[in-house]
Amino acid sequence: MADLSVEVAGIRFPNPIMPAAGPPVRDGRAIVRCAEGGAGGLVSKTISSRAATPPTPNMAEIAHNLGMVNTELWSELPPEQWIDREYPIARGAGLPLIVSLGYTADDIAGLAPRIRPFADAVELSTHYIGEDAGPMVDAIRAAKAALDVPIFVKLSPLGREMVRAAEQAEAAGADGIVAINSFGPVLAIDPDTRLPLLGGSDGYGWLSGPALKPLALRCVRDISRAVSVPVIGVGGVSHGIDAVEMLMAGASAVQVCTAAILHGPGVFGKIAHELDTWLDDHGYATAAELRGTVTGAMPDAWSRGKPVVLEGPCNGCDVCATSCLYGAIDVVDKLAVIDLDLCARCGLCVTRCRRGAIEWVPAAPVA
Ligand SMILES: Cc1cc2nc3c(=O)[nH]c(=O)nc-3n(C[C@H](O)[C@H](O)[C@H](O)COP(=O)(O)O)c2cc1C
Repeated sequence: MADLSVEVAGIRFPNPIMPAAGPPVRDGRAIVRCAEGGAGGLVSKTISSRAATPPTPNMAEIAHNLGMVNTELWSELPPEQWIDREYPIARGAGLPLIVSLGYTADDIAGLAPRIRPFADAVELSTHYIGEDAGPMVDAIRAAKAALDVPIFVKLSPLGREMVRAAEQAEAAGADGIVAINSFGPVLAIDPDTRLPLLGGSDGYGWLSGPALKPLALRCVRDISRAVSVPVIGVGGVSHGIDAVEMLMAGASAVQVCTAAILHGPGVFGKIAHELDTWLDDHGYATAAELRGTVTGAMPDAWSRGKPVVLEGPCNGCDVCATSCLYGAIDVVDKLAVIDLDLCARCGLCVTRCRRGAIEWVPAAPVA
């Protein structure tokens, strides 16, 4: 078994998989269920000065395993209830607790001293304070003035330049960056009713889940290279292999929301176990070793490579041939055959094959 424990801003987590702020951590009991489900750390649903009143319906799964859209806002429970009841229950789980707060400097200045007894760290959501760095910087300063625990800043991919926002957060005193929140606004439609899937004045919502992962990975990589504080990666993680990619991109730990909504709190332990197995299979002793190990540009010899069919695993299913835009693949006697004169070396067939039967083979290095 690999050592899954990680340290983030001086806090040690027994494994790097934790819930992201959202419905799986909507109250104290739900937070305890995440711990029982195998999470290595805990995050509470964002609270603000007043309870949210989200429109209904406010959550929908979207087809083809892309993920979800939501317009759930922040906690519908008032801060008093969190302080009197929910945080004490959550603390009983015995794992580090990151308390999520929103949004303005005034909100944070009012809430921070009251949540301090329960928080190992605080995560500031910037989701509803716009693109301009000013309100984010003011909120960070208010948190730093009131608290002596690490302050993480969660960035939303609103179209803003994420690296610049992370640098501004670090300069204002943030002890870590959480990237990324859900993306939007987006629209999902029910064609039978001609209605949006979500309520609210425009039916718009925020995208999360597998469709978000490539954007999250890009942001985590760019941000972790630009700042010296740790980055917690979030967006589209459902399996151990997603966590592997998030750590390789530069994350020190990983948060999960949509997969826990769709599959329940046991998903944290499942992802941690799959991560452990992957580390063992690939000769890593610790999860921390993976951090930031993705390479930058592809090596030239790899880039000049070509696809090669492996006879054993290929069953001639035709998937690669159907999606070869260059007509370079034919299935002959139940085996895919690539005509390299027609092949544009686009690489698609390698990822289309579900059996691992087409491999990208690097070219010989130029002498
Ligand atoms: C229904 C729902 C509610 C959410 N509520 C919050 C929230 O209160 N605060 C917050 O910072 N992020 C919130 N998020 C965003 C998630 O924490 C997370 O950043 C995002 O969903 C991407 O991760 P995922 O793909 O694992 O879901 C919410 C997401 C969903 C789907």
